[in-house]
Amino acid sequence: MKTHSPTVEQQIESLRSTLQSHNHRYYVLDDPSVPDAEYDRLFQQLKSLEQQFPELVVPDSPTQRVGGMALEGFSQITHEMPMLSLDNAFNESDMQDFDRRVHERLGLDLDQPVVYGCEPKLDGIAVSLLYRNGILERGATRGDGSTGEDITLNVRTIPSIPLRLLGGDWPLVLEVRGEIYMPKQGFQSFNERALKQGEKPFVNPRNAAAGSLRQLDPKITARRPLEMCAYSVGLVEQGSLPESHTEILLQLQQWGLKINPEMKAVEGVAACLEYYLQLSERRNQLPYEIDGIVFKVNDILQQRKLGFVSRAPRWAIAHKFPAQEEMTILEDVEFQVGRTGAVTPVARLKPVFVGGVTVSNATLHNMDEVERLDVRIGDSVIIRRAGDVIPQIVSVILEQRPVDAKIVELPSDCPVCGALVERIEGEAAARCSGGLSCGAQRKEAIKHYVSRKAMDIDGLGDKLVELLVDNGQIKQLYDLYSLEHPKVAGLERMGDKSAENLLQAIEKSRFTTLPRFLYGLGIREVGETTAKSLVRYFGSLEAIREADEEQLQAVPDVGPIVAHHVRVFFQQPHNLEILDGLIAAGVHWPVVELPTVDQQPLNGKTYVLTGTLETLTRGEAKEKLEQLGAKVSGSVSKKTDCLVAGPGAGSKLTKAQGLGIDVIDEPQLLKIFEDYAEAF
Ligand code: IVH
Repeated sequence: MKTHSPTVEQQIESLRSTLQSHNHRYYVLDDPSVPDAEYDRLFQQLKSLEQQFPELVVPDSPTQRVGGMALEGFSQITHEMPMLSLDNAFNESDMQDFDRRVHERLGLDLDQPVVYGCEPKLDGIAVSLLYRNGILERGATRGDGSTGEDITLNVRTIPSIPLRLLGGDWPLVLEVRGEIYMPKQGFQSFNERALKQGEKPFVNPRNAAAGSLRQLDPKITARRPLEMCAYSVGLVEQGSLPESHTEILLQLQQWGLKINPEMKAVEGVAACLEYYLQLSERRNQLPYEIDGIVFKVNDILQQRKLGFVSRAPRWAIAHKFPAQEEMTILEDVEFQVGRTGAVTPVARLKPVFVGGVTVSNATLHNMDEVERLDVRIGDSVIIRRAGDVIPQIVSVILEQRPVDAKIVELPSDCPVCGALVERIEGEAAARCSGGLSCGAQRKEAIKHYVSRKAMDIDGLGDKLVELLVDNGQIKQLYDLYSLEHPKVAGLERMGDKSAENLLQAIEKSRFTTLPRFLYGLGIREVGETTAKSLVRYFGSLEAIREADEEQLQAVPDVGPIVAHHVRVFFQQPHNLEILDGLIAAGVHWPVVELPTVDQQPLNGKTYVLTGTLETLTRGEAKEKLEQLGAKVSGSVSKKTDCLVAGPGAGSKLTKAQGLGIDVIDEPQLLKIFEDYAEAF
C-alpha cells in the first residue's frame, strides 16, 4: 500500500469541510458565503487530488453526490419504526376537537394551553434518511409506511441533504424524516424546458418531486431542482435529543439539515388557528407549494403519552387548505376572441369547488395545449387553481373517457365576426383575420387608429373609445367621422366644449399622410417604420393594396411574415370595405411623389462606412443612404465622395484623409437623414 504524506490527506479533508460548509450556506441556509466561481475552483481542486489519490475517496466526499450506475430497480427496505401519516382537519371545529382530545388524554383542563409546534405541510414526498456516525447511509421512501424503496443514490444528489452531518455529538444512529419537494421556481423552469424540448411537463410540483425520485439513473435526479426539509426523527440509537419537537428540529438544523423557516411553537389552539390564517394569506408568496399546516404537540413526553391510533399519531394533525386540484367534467369548449384577434379555447366546466372558489371556466391557452392534453368534450379532467392564477386543466382521466367524447376543433370562422380564422405555422395562437371589422378587435383597432403616431386625434382616450363603441355610436372605424355634436356632448364627463374640441380634432385628422394612415390601419407587424418603407417603395395605397407577397418582400425591411400579414389584410373584403369607408368619409393625404432617380438627393454619390456607429447599425445606415440614392461601397478609393467614420476608424480614415475625401461623423450623417426625411 502507498503511503501518503499527511499533508495530502489534510488538504483533502480541509477542502471537503470547506466545500461542505459552502454547500450548507448555499442550499440549506440560502445565504451563500462565496461566489460560485470560488466554489467551483475548490471543487475542481478536490476532484483532481482525488483523482491522483483514488484510495482517499470516501462516499461522503462532496465529489461523490452523483455516482454509480443506473439501477435495474429499487430494492425494498423495512422501516425500523413505521412512517405514519396524519389525520386531517378541514375547519376550525375539527381543530377544536383535536385540541379537546389532546387535553382529555393528557388529563389537562381546557384552560391549560398545550404548546404546539406549527409548520407548513409541504407538498412533496416523505423520505427517511439514515445517518450512522454522522454519515448518510441510506435514503428511503415512505412506501406503505412499513416498507419503502431504497433511493439512497437519488437522495445523495440533493444538495440540501448533507452527506455527513455538521458539528458533532450526534447519536450513533439517527433517522431524519422529512419532505423532498420541488420549489415552485424550479418546477416552472423545468416545465418550460420540457415543453420547449417537446417533452411532457409535470402537472404539479408534487408529481415532479415524485417523478424525479423514481428515476433509476441518479444522474437524472441530480438535474432536477429538488430540496429537502426535515420535520421529525425516527430511529435514534446511542444518543439523546432535546425534549421538544421544535428544539429537535433546531438541533437537526445545527447538524446541517434544512428545516422550514416558518416553524414556530405557539400556546393553545387559538394561536394555531391564527398561524393557519396568517400562513394561508402568504401561501402564494412562499417559494414552495404547501397544502396545509401541521400542528404537533411540542412536548415529547406528552407525545409519548398520547401515542398512536392505527396509522396516525394522536399528537399531530394536518389542517388542510382547500384543495387546489379537483376533478370535474369538461362540458364544452368555446372560443373567445381577444383584443389582438387571438382565438382562445375556453373550457366550460361542470362547476367545482377548488382553491377556495367555485370554478366553471378554465383557460386552455391555445390549440397546441388542447392537443397536448388530448382533452375532449365530455372528459373527466383535473382542474387546478393555485392562488390567483387562472384555473387550468392539468390532465385528463383517460380511463373515464365516455365513448361519445367529442374532439375539440378550432372553428374555421371567427365566432364574433365570421371572418376566417388563421393558424400560422410556428405560432401557438390562432387568429381571427377579421381585423377592423371584428367586434372584439374593434375597440383596440380604434384606439390604435386615433393614437399619436397614427391619426393623432387629440382628446379621444381609451375610455371614450370604449364608451362610443359600447353605446353604439361607433360601429366601424369610419363612424368616427360622422359623430354628431349633441350625442357626443351628452356622453359621461363630456361637455359642450370638449365635444366641440374633439369633433374639431377628428375633422383635422381627415388630412393626414399615407404612412400615418397605413400604420393606423393596425395591420399586424406593420409598425411606423414598415409603413414608411411600404409607402416609399410603392408610392400609393392602391399599389400596396395590389402587391403580392413577392413584390412586398422586395421592400427593404419586409420579410415573408410581414408580407403575408399585409397580403392577408388586403385580401379580406371587410377590411377593404372599411378602407373605402374611411376614404369616402374624407380621409385623404398628399400624393406621394416617388423620387425619380435623378431627383434622389444623393444620386450618384458613393459613401463608405467605417468605425462604430452608435444609434443605428451599419445595415440600417446603408439602407437609408441607398434610399436617398447613394451607393455604399466597402472600400475607400478616388471615386469615394464621403466617408462616414465612427469611433475606432483606422486605415480607411487615413486613406480618405490622404485623398482629400469628405469625412463626416455619425451626428452629421443623422442630420443628412433628417434633412431629407421631409420628403415623406
Ligand atoms: S409529520 C407522524 N410534518 O404529510 C408525523 N408531515 O399525511 C408524520 N408532510 O407523509 C408526518 N409536511 O409526507 C409532517 N411538516 C410536516 C409535513 C408532513 C408534509 C407530509 C408527509 C406525510 C404526510 C402526512
